[in-house]
Amino acid sequence: MSQYYPIDGTSSLIYPDISAQNLQPMKPLKLGVMASGNGSNFEVVAQAIQAGKLNAQIQVLIYNNPSAKAAERAKNHGLEAVLLNHRDYKKRENLDRAIVKTFRQYDVDLVIMAGWMRIVTQELIDAFPDRIINIHPSLLPSFKGVRAVEQALEAGVKITGCTVHLLRLEMDSGPILIQAAVPVLPDDTAETLHARIQIQEHRILPLAIASLAAR
Ligand code: GRF
Repeated sequence: MSQYYPIDGTSSLIYPDISAQNLQPMKPLKLGVMASGNGSNFEVVAQAIQAGKLNAQIQVLIYNNPSAKAAERAKNHGLEAVLLNHRDYKKRENLDRAIVKTFRQYDVDLVIMAGWMRIVTQELIDAFPDRIINIHPSLLPSFKGVRAVEQALEAGVKITGCTVHLLRLEMDSGPILIQAAVPVLPDDTAETLHARIQIQEHRILPLAIASLAAR
């Protein structure tokens, strides 16, 4: 009889094991976070900081959808949240310039794209060279772009996962910092699989931030 391990998806292969490194930088990193929706990844970063597990501070959250739950989460933590609604900008570059201006105002030195559902331009990338990270719900370079979880299910892979990488102009490319593997179970739907992937996202995102802080 087949065994599926781990059934609950709460344990997983995470590589590299950067948790073993000294992850506390001398000076707290000043983070700027970008989120479009729920913001569970934003939440775990805020919680890791509050719990003293991550020596950083969130300077500001930028969100682009007025109804993003991420904004509510920021307010609950007493953190600044700035709405930059993409509908107010004719060109992507203009939105990105506004993002850069806001991050500069808040003295941000590392940008976290935590569920930012917009394509970004070179304007943003050039403003923070190798200081922007993105989290994606697949083992890149497989299943780039939107519907990554659905793509994995459609492809019939037995293992998928999540990736934190440095941002480059080409979508979901860029040097990989850390990945976690997650099994695809026989009865998985996009929702159940995404939920298990998110458990691992919430582990690897704070680790990736800490590893960059130590650089
Ligand atoms: C995550 O699955 C992330 O990988 C993708 O968007 C989702 C954001 O989730 N880029 P949340 O808003 O942090 O809950």
